[in-house]
Amino acid sequence: KADKRSTLLEINKLAANYFYYQLHQSQGKIGYDYFRKRELSDDTIRRFGLGFANKTSNDLYQYLRSKGYADEILRDSGLVTMEERGTYDKFWNRVMFPIMDVNNRVIGFGGRVMGDGTPKYLNSPETLIFDKSRNLYGLNYARTSREKYMLACEGYMDVIAMHQAGFTNAVASLGTAFTTQHAVLLKRYTDTVILTYDSDGAGVKAALRAIPILKEVGISTRVLNLKPYKDPDEFIKNMGADAFRERIANAQNSFLFEIDVLKREYDLEDPEQKTKFYNATARKLLEFNEALERDNYTRAVAQAQFIPYEDLRRLVNRLGNQL
Ligand code: CTP
Ligand code: MN
Ligand code: MN
Ligand code: MN
Ligand code: MN
Repeated sequence: KADKRSTLLEINKLAANYFYYQLHQSQGKIGYDYFRKRELSDDTIRRFGLGFANKTSNDLYQYLRSKGYADEILRDSGLVTMEERGTYDKFWNRVMFPIMDVNNRVIGFGGRVMGDGTPKYLNSPETLIFDKSRNLYGLNYARTSREKYMLACEGYMDVIAMHQAGFTNAVASLGTAFTTQHAVLLKRYTDTVILTYDSDGAGVKAALRAIPILKEVGISTRVLNLKPYKDPDEFIKNMGADAFRERIANAQNSFLFEIDVLKREYDLEDPEQKTKFYNATARKLLEFNEALERDNYTRAVAQAQFIPYEDLRRLVNRLGNQL
């Protein structure tokens, strides 16, 4: 089994080199142009080993066969699919993002369509060497960053754009929810995470799920506001690195973020709804078991939400006594 793992690592490495080579051939120019259009430099392309899977239906398969690998192991690599009609490359006509583990070994790929096709991203399936819930894209570089915090985002292009802009402490959980294993992995390198998830509904939801997971392992979390842009890539492209650094400095305490999101469920013009919001806020403050910490947050929430502190404190205490 250890043998099989190392063979799969070899195959992924060969594939990464193959895709990288293709990007610089005439067939791959469309992929190279795509990356350039997205403002990635040659340095960035090299650093992240970005590549191109061409339109030929099974040339990667042929290439790997020519290197002596058997059908069975190639199937298990997830890079080819075997059908009755024949064997095909999983990735074709896509720009390619190799996914590396913390030791810089390629363990899988993401491939993006260059236009509006679906799926937008296609990812390697989980294999003996690729466990999506235990790997974070970009961590191989982020782990050596000297910053005390890490930036966690959703996507390949977000990680790459942040690194290119000098924020080399950015990582992403790819095409999968942020897991406890991800949090445990991050905890080895940092105590503070700044979430830079997309500003759309899905991103907010993902952030709300990640916050308690990070808290559970003792990581303190802040949330960066990307508005009016959709994700870090777009923010940096439009506003630049200095503006992004400012947003990092102003990232919001995750509890206050949760309260802000909670507030959106209520129509605060309506006194009944407004009361419900206050009650929900007070119940949430009861999550803090330590009196001082609870009081600090009660003060912060009162100030942020323009609620008289004494009134909020009394409400928290009353609801607490009912428990
Ligand atoms: N994703 C995926 N499969 C999809 C769509 C998304 O695996 N069909 C993953 C990818 O890792 C992607 C991330 O979820 O990077 C975030 O998705 P999205 O915000 O839709 O894409 P972006 O990263 O913003 O990609 P781009 O800027 O290239 O459009
Ligand atoms: Mn091909
Ligand atoms: Mn998104
Ligand atoms: Mn994007
Ligand atoms: Mn996005």
